[in-house]
Formats: sequence, C-alpha cells, structure tokens
Amino acid sequence: MKIAGVLPVIFLVLCAIECNVSAFWFRGKPFPGKIQNDGSFFNDVRDEPEEDPGILENIEKAVDPCGDVWTKFEEYCYHVGAKIMTEEQAQQYCDQEMDANLAKINSKEENNFVLDVAKRHAPSAKKVWIGMKWENKSRNYYWYDNSVPTFTNWAPGEPNGKVKEPCVAMYIEQYEMLPVMAAGYWNDEVCDAPHTAAVCKRLY
Ligand SMILES: *[C@@H]1O[C@H](CO)[C@@H](O)[C@H](O)[C@H]1NC(C)=O
Repeated sequence: MKIAGVLPVIFLVLCAIECNVSAFWFRGKPFPGKIQNDGSFFNDVRDEPEEDPGILENIEKAVDPCGDVWTKFEEYCYHVGAKIMTEEQAQQYCDQEMDANLAKINSKEENNFVLDVAKRHAPSAKKVWIGMKWENKSRNYYWYDNSVPTFTNWAPGEPNGKVKEPCVAMYIEQYEMLPVMAAGYWNDEVCDAPHTAAVCKRLY
C-alpha cells in the first residue's frame, strides 16, 4: 500500500482527537470520539447518559400493561406464585395480595399458556390451583364466579371425587409413566393437596 493511501486516515484520526470533533459516525456513535470538558475521552456507548427511566417505564407499560410478575395473554394478566399453598391459601393469595382471582380458563390456547407460565414460575410445584370448585347444591363443578365452564380439560377418568375432592388443579409436571396425568390436564383434588401453587388472573 502506498503511504499516500493511509495519510488521510491518519489525518482523520489525529484530527478527531486533536480537533475535538468526530471523524465519522459508526453505528450511530461518533468515532473515534470527543474529548469532553473534563478532559476524558468519550467514545464508548456505555458512557452515554441513560435515557430518562420514566420514559422507558412508560414504554414498557405500553408494551406490557400487566407489569412485573405478571404475563399477558389476550386481555388478561396471569401470575403464578412460586409457593406451595392449599386451595384456600391460593384463593387468598390471588385475592388479597395480587388483587386477582384464581384463574378461570376458557380455551385450549389459554390452558397451554397457563401451563407454560406455571412451568416457568413454579418449578417446584407439580400442580396449580385453578378457580373451579365442586358445588354441593347443583352437584357439579363451577367457576368461582358461579359461571358454567365452557371449556374443561379433565384428565381421562376425571373428575371422580366430587364432594370428596371439591377443588381443581392443573398438572404442570410431566409424568412420563402416567399419560393420564399429562401436564395441562385438570384433576379434582382435596383442597389441601400438596405440591400445588396458585395461578392468578385479572383483566389488565
Ligand atoms: C359439601 O358436602 C360435604 C359432604 O356432605 C361437606 O363435607 C362439605 O362441607 C360441603 N361443602 C360445602 C361448601 O358446603
């Protein structure tokens, strides 16, 4: 290479430092950089002042209106607590701590979504309580708001406990040897069944 070929480059680099201007732009940043008022050399993206966190927070909210510890699906937000609870504790947890209800599930897609959230957020649980219960009077399972289930995903042979198993949980652990307990299926349970976490749901 002829020396004349690199001279403009050397000039540009030296000038960028000495003349206190940027030689050119690289990926949206001045390069090689500028000498700042305090004498430090500025050319690293990490040195840039951060954007106003208020703006970022608002953008985040617009993208995910559910906020921290919640996951959005259609017009609802879902939260799975990592703790093991009885069904009554789960109800209280969703209602009093999360301002929500135990989840009512209305479609296969929603069921798959809840299963996915539960697996990620309650890895130590084997099941999650959903908002369905046996009602003595009408002798059937209803949602907590007394609505009749339009979608159910009972495991084969379930529910079989009725009065004896008035609460309902979704399996989230895959039992390889027990296809009737496959993850995503529902089972009626005693309300203090072990290994069960809460899945809460609210409108956003
Ligand atoms: C339903 O009936 C069972 C058995 O008679 C009883 O133990 C249980 O308390 C009743 N549940 C409600 C919510 O009344």
